[in-house]
Amino acid sequence: MPTFSYRNRIAFYYIVTTGLLISVVFTVIYVSVKESVYRHIENDIALERTKLFDEISISDKGFTLIDQHEWKEKEHNTLDVNPIFIQFTNAEGKMFDKSPNLKNSQLLFHKSEEGVPLYFDAKLNQISIRQSQIDVTYKEKVVGYIIIAMSLEDANLVLRNLRYTLLFTFPLVLGILFLVARFIVGRSIEPVKTIIETSNKIKKDNLNTRISLPENKDELYELSETINNLLNRIEKAIEREKQFTSDASHELRTPLAIIKGTLEVLIRKPREKQEYEDKINFCISEVDRVNKLVDELLLLARFENEKQNIKSESLLLNALLLDTSARFSQKIKDKKCKVIHLFEKEFYIQSDYNLVSIILSNVFSNALKYSGGNSNITVKLYNENDIIKCSITDEGLGISKKDKNKIFNAFFRSESLNHPEIKGTGLGLSIVKRLCELLNITINIKSQLNKGTTIILSFPEEEIK
Ligand SMILES: Nc1ncnc2c1ncn2[C@@H]1O[C@H](COP(=O)(O)OP(=O)(O)O)[C@@H](O)[C@H]1O
Ligand SMILES: [Mg+2]
Repeated sequence: MPTFSYRNRIAFYYIVTTGLLISVVFTVIYVSVKESVYRHIENDIALERTKLFDEISISDKGFTLIDQHEWKEKEHNTLDVNPIFIQFTNAEGKMFDKSPNLKNSQLLFHKSEEGVPLYFDAKLNQISIRQSQIDVTYKEKVVGYIIIAMSLEDANLVLRNLRYTLLFTFPLVLGILFLVARFIVGRSIEPVKTIIETSNKIKKDNLNTRISLPENKDELYELSETINNLLNRIEKAIEREKQFTSDASHELRTPLAIIKGTLEVLIRKPREKQEYEDKINFCISEVDRVNKLVDELLLLARFENEKQNIKSESLLLNALLLDTSARFSQKIKDKKCKVIHLFEKEFYIQSDYNLVSIILSNVFSNALKYSGGNSNITVKLYNENDIIKCSITDEGLGISKKDKNKIFNAFFRSESLNHPEIKGTGLGLSIVKRLCELLNITINIKSQLNKGTTIILSFPEEEIK
């Protein structure tokens, strides 16, 4: 099938439909004109027939004209554009009289038994005529026939002209309609061209270009708006990625620069053993930081497109939470914190063991890290409206309202300068967020500055066992 352009295709469909419609209309016109022309002729014949029956006398032997002379005279006197041919025959169909305008010709007689229709088409010297053959009866016995005919030449001429006109105008009208439709469709899809042109121009370095919205708020407006929204999202995603890369390199460089600076200062002159130990310990802690940072960055990179590797296994959440707090037991002891486990009952979920572990570890480590000494950390496991929920509550620093939405951003650390002793990369919750997305876990935060924080994880409903 040939590839039609959109405007040609629409114009084509349009004229196919209109063409069918016009041909129906033209046929109706032609048929009704033909009908009315024939009806007119037949009316004339019928009129003549009625008149003739007044002018004849009928007996059992046949019929004759009452006033032969007057009839012939009348034929000559009347000015008739379309003459009427009349012929009288006896019961056997033999002609015994006819109108003078027939001259030497004769109208064709049709045997009555054949069932002659009231009106029918016939020929007279190659001329088309409309003919009618009427029985003349006397006491229910046919004694003769009157044949009346009128020329169809004029009618046929009119019909032929009409036919030619319609046949000629048909393609002409269709052609004009095709061009008009093509033009209108072309005009109405003009915005599509703008969309194509603008979209073609958009590259990575001019991603801020947007498609100008058409005036009418129609489907094309919606399409332009949708593409613009898509561009907004892509632009933001690229922006985020750039920001992430620059933040990551900054975060990696800072500890390295610190280590380098410390070592350079250390080597300038001989120092006390204690000072060496302090500086080297400091450097080791910075190397640890870089290590952790690299680990977390790799983790984040791995989960960017992890979707296909997610396992679905039956997990006992209670055990998982106990394991998590056990892993931090040394730190819990050091800080003299108390972990309170409040488990409503045993809760199983269908999820990936490793990924859920990473989520719980990060949330728990934050609760511990941002708590003061001698405080409680409450881990709850409960069912709320048929949804399994896990909450981890601390009595620590809390998160200010303005930072609540930011803590999931990579490298963001709320008021980190206020507590330089708490080390961190700001990547933990980014990883949590990404994993929660992968596992369909909803995460909510309730926090009050200097009072404490509760992180609530809601596990997907369909995974309840
Ligand atoms: N339980 C919490 N209490 C107070 N602040 C928190 C808590 N959890 C997270 N935050 C804030 O969110 C920030 C981001 O957390 P996270 O991504 O885990 O990074 P990190 O722990 O390495 O700083 C933290 O720096 C901290 O300011
Ligand atoms: Mg953390």
